[in-house]
Amino acid sequence: MIPRATATVDLTAIEHNLHQVRRLAPGSKLMAVIKADAYGHGAVPVARALQGRVDAFAVACLEEALVLREAGIRAPLVLLEGILSQDEAAQALRHDLQLVVHEDWQLKILEALPADARVSLWIKLDSGMHRLGFPPGDIWDVWRRIQVQRGWRFQGWMTHLACADEPDKDTTHRQAVDFNKALQGLPGLRSLANSAAVIHWPETHADWVRPGLMLYGASPLPGKTGTDLGLRPAMTLESRLMAVRACAQGDAIGYGATYRCPEAMRVGIVSIGYADGFHRSVPTGTPVIVQGQRTSLVGRVSMDLIAVDLRPVPQARVGDPVLLWGDGLPIEDIAARAGTVPYELLCGLTRRVKFVYTNRGI
Ligand SMILES: Cc1ncc(COP(=O)(O)O)c(C=O)c1O
Repeated sequence: MIPRATATVDLTAIEHNLHQVRRLAPGSKLMAVIKADAYGHGAVPVARALQGRVDAFAVACLEEALVLREAGIRAPLVLLEGILSQDEAAQALRHDLQLVVHEDWQLKILEALPADARVSLWIKLDSGMHRLGFPPGDIWDVWRRIQVQRGWRFQGWMTHLACADEPDKDTTHRQAVDFNKALQGLPGLRSLANSAAVIHWPETHADWVRPGLMLYGASPLPGKTGTDLGLRPAMTLESRLMAVRACAQGDAIGYGATYRCPEAMRVGIVSIGYADGFHRSVPTGTPVIVQGQRTSLVGRVSMDLIAVDLRPVPQARVGDPVLLWGDGLPIEDIAARAGTVPYELLCGLTRRVKFVYTNRGI
């Protein structure tokens, strides 16, 4: 069967990007963020490729962690959102998962476990993002509650940065200062940095960094591509021409007739659409590469199909490959055109896309 759309994930590119993290933050331990199915790249193959090369993995929730444990991933594994119930706490213990605890109710669930429960936990502080985390004023109280639990293994303190992707704002510096101030006099390892902070804010590297996006070779910084930052895009998204139409001047293309041919021209129909995760908000004019030749999308993205301008590719025929993003066509550009970020495009690919894994560099 010929796949309609294929995402090829180059695991060597991910390894290269990991080296870049190590180079930028040589003194820090590395927690590779592989939540959301490794940002759409496939958590199990990515974890298998990185196991032994990173100090821990991080996922959002128990379900994501169980998939990895069932696949035989034995590395330290952190639940960034922690547990939601007593039952989840018991499962987390059984599977040797580390929990991020961000609110009093989670701490109470853990305190209600048997006294010898080997809870392994991080405490999250809210240093200014106002999403998850204990307020700085509660930290000493939390610390005292951890101290009385003899079986618990305290891993460290964590916070999340709201604006690390904005190098000109001083919000990140202020968050780092407030985080360190709240923890003054307290022992324990510290972790603040996501990808943007690994790249741009060395003062946040501390004991552990937690990169996600940059491992996949995409840039967290607006206006820059992963390649600009010395990263290698891990994913290539491709489809094929499934029809070639000879259209007349004035012919309208696709739903809503939003594009009219300015002259007689060939239009290619490509088998990818928003049901594959190629966003409907990707507009006319967005670059695509047909047979190695740069051209552009015309008309609206529909559920299963898009249309492309074949004027720059006179030799194009049914079956020819069409590159949607990847090497030579930065996902950052496609995301910017669609008014979103590479994170959303990568996470949004659906099961209809066929995934292929390569080790091109080896
Ligand atoms: C708590 C936490 N740490 C680290 C990351 C990794 O961020 P990035 O993918 O920007 O590196 C995330 C991602 O959202 C996160 O929620």
